[in-house]
Amino acid sequence: MNKELSREERADALGGMGCKRKRVEDARFTQGKGNYVDDIKLPGMLQGDFVRSPYAHAKIVSIDASAALALDGVIAVLTAEDLAPLGLHWMPTLAGDKQMVLADGKVLFQGQEVAFVVAKDRYIAADAVELVEVEYEELPVLTDPFAAMESDVVLREDLLGEGGSLPDGAHGPRKHHNHIFTWEVGEKDATEQVLQEADVVAEEMVYYHRTHPCPLETCGCVASMDKVNGKLTLHGTFQAPHAIRTVVSLISGIEEHNIRVISPDIGGGFGNKVGAYPGYVCSVVASIVTGVPVKWVEDRMENLMTTAFARDYWMKGKISATKEGKITGLWCHTTADHGGFDACADPTKFPAGFMNICTGSYDIPTAYLAVDGVYTNKAPGGVSYRCSFRVTEAAYFIERMIEILAIELNMDAAELRRINFIKKEQFPYQSALGWEYDSGDYHTAWDKALKAVDYDGLRAEQAQRVEDFKAGKTRKLMGIGLTHFTEIVGAGPVKNCDILGLGMFDSCEIRIHPTGSAIARLGTISQGQGHATTFAQILATEIGLPADSITIEEGDTDTAPYGLGTYGSRSTPVAGAATAMAGRKIRAKAQMIAAYLLEVHDDDVEFDVDRFVVKGAPEKFKTMKEIAFAAYNQAIPGIEPGLEAVSYYDPPNMTYPFGAYVCVMDIDVDTGVTEIRRFYALDDCGTRINPMIIEGQVHGGLTEALAVALGQEIAYDDMGNVKTGTLMDFFLPTAWEVPNYETDHTVTPSPHHPIGAKGVGESPHVGGVPCFSNAVNDAFRAFGLRHTHMPHDHWRIWKTANGLGLHG
Ligand code: CDP
Repeated sequence: MNKELSREERADALGGMGCKRKRVEDARFTQGKGNYVDDIKLPGMLQGDFVRSPYAHAKIVSIDASAALALDGVIAVLTAEDLAPLGLHWMPTLAGDKQMVLADGKVLFQGQEVAFVVAKDRYIAADAVELVEVEYEELPVLTDPFAAMESDVVLREDLLGEGGSLPDGAHGPRKHHNHIFTWEVGEKDATEQVLQEADVVAEEMVYYHRTHPCPLETCGCVASMDKVNGKLTLHGTFQAPHAIRTVVSLISGIEEHNIRVISPDIGGGFGNKVGAYPGYVCSVVASIVTGVPVKWVEDRMENLMTTAFARDYWMKGKISATKEGKITGLWCHTTADHGGFDACADPTKFPAGFMNICTGSYDIPTAYLAVDGVYTNKAPGGVSYRCSFRVTEAAYFIERMIEILAIELNMDAAELRRINFIKKEQFPYQSALGWEYDSGDYHTAWDKALKAVDYDGLRAEQAQRVEDFKAGKTRKLMGIGLTHFTEIVGAGPVKNCDILGLGMFDSCEIRIHPTGSAIARLGTISQGQGHATTFAQILATEIGLPADSITIEEGDTDTAPYGLGTYGSRSTPVAGAATAMAGRKIRAKAQMIAAYLLEVHDDDVEFDVDRFVVKGAPEKFKTMKEIAFAAYNQAIPGIEPGLEAVSYYDPPNMTYPFGAYVCVMDIDVDTGVTEIRRFYALDDCGTRINPMIIEGQVHGGLTEALAVALGQEIAYDDMGNVKTGTLMDFFLPTAWEVPNYETDHTVTPSPHHPIGAKGVGESPHVGGVPCFSNAVNDAFRAFGLRHTHMPHDHWRIWKTANGLGLHG
């Protein structure tokens, strides 16, 4: 039948790369057939719940669990004392620090885990939590990292050496007992010299507030220790199941082959589900002790107050330029608030992640970055909330600094960007802070974006609006937010990037069945990104079998090849590459089989969409389906039966997606209410696998960007109480707040990726946050505003307007 189809029709029938294939996952999700951790119910399963500290800094004087243990249905109450003999009262963090599993003599943040109650059901566990009596002795609280660096109060006595000395931390020398590390990149003296000699220097403190990834599904697990065969099965909301298996093995002493980690369906991760939490350790211990499965699933408040936060970077910046606007230097000192333990999820050599991408899309010849990590009485974390290891902070920093420099130069901010962009012919581009950007065409993207929104027309309208405002004809100002961002996604390479010593490669294993369908297993795990749809598309194009005939499986460490998981938009750059490479191995073997069947030399056949054809004789061919069958059916001299391949891919470089965004916003000066009139997002993620999924990723990322820029915040009072611990206070946008997004693209393939693809999941978040923020700031530029901090909620905007004297 295939013979009658044209080449294009055969390609279309595969549903391969470039087509808007519908998400195969959605039939399950939209019909309530998803299988999340909380859906897992094992025979005899118990439930765990935490007693948590109401104080942000306190000594634990005593814990009395007798009343809780007396409650019918309570099986056990674990404290640090119970875990200590097993060496499990503390656990290693991803950042080389250690963290208390259960409070060991003191607590360092509100909501910290103090005791773990195990009971027959969730309600009994919750009641028992109330009955555990803990006596605390309050200690002085430090919520400000600058004050923490000056304070006599010691947060981490466990890190003091003899006589109060300060041994080195995981990332080198420490300056103060509340200091974690200093990380420096670039040329300090040269940058300071450039700043001194510059025509113009713009200086600003840019604070990126603390926020939280807040996935719809909170974190949780079900630990099940089978004492008969010695096997531990751990279902959990893990973004990196293999890494969790290795960590559990290392800290529990259970051999790795006896641990099976399964990430079932995951309801959003955004970085929140990368790290290891005390709930996992306590559930495992409780299951080992009781001999039955134990489930722990946190509630919304626990998720917001205690699991990994994002951002909290104070970025002091200086940027210099000539009178004409050519940037000459960039200097940045960041004070990073890491909370009570350093549990940041970054590759080992990068304690501040990829913050050194902060030169952005610009050709900046000289730069210097220093980051100081500091302990405070806040929750630990520091994860990449929909970004690649602090790239969001970097993009926000440089895109605000560019706007402030434009004010200083009295220049149009779009033009300032244009004259400083790295030029197309400069790629691969070596940045002053150490990265090699793989490819880009920033001018084309920028021109396309400005044309699409009629940028000159918008500026004219804005100028008129300012006149009308001054004349009392309107109370609404208009802001034009601009952003051109460059992302860095796809960690590895292994030589630079590891987490806890595990190199950041990824993997794909393919098995072609005799009838020409297939299963591919990967080391990644989808949390809503649609991997089951898109990875099958890569394979369809690479091996010539229909995407609908290829099952994608992730998240089970007993079956999937070892991989470092999904976060930092690494799935496409790393596992996507592994998939293409494994597909090519299949193709190479298929070529030999085809040549044998067609009775020609291997070199005389070539791949053509879904078949191998004899060169120069296209009527002689074998389809991939026929080849698959032959692989299992015929004895082919010199070739093993079967058609399988595995690829472990260590990327030679990161990929550098980029984008040009414009936001048009009206602001009511009297209420502080913002209205987004237009949002145009042009993304370049290289080769596009599924344009529909990309569009969905962009919509989602922009919506989370809107949330962060306009209100989403984890705020603390001076006592270290979390003020935004519920969704009543923590802004999670709904359809009501979300504007219409206009999406667009250019395509600049990555030269080193097998299919030229770069990541995209995080780009809209990375570019969106500065774009929304720049729109707010820009609205007030004509009235003398240089910079106002996020989040730009109505109250803060009202105060900004008031501070500028706009309320009369
Ligand atoms: O690692 P994560 O899956 O979060 O991010 P990603 O690699 O950026 O991919 C997000 C989704 O977009 C996946 O389903 C990808 O296959 C898809 N994608 C695409 O269709 N084309 C690209 N060039 C990049 C990603």
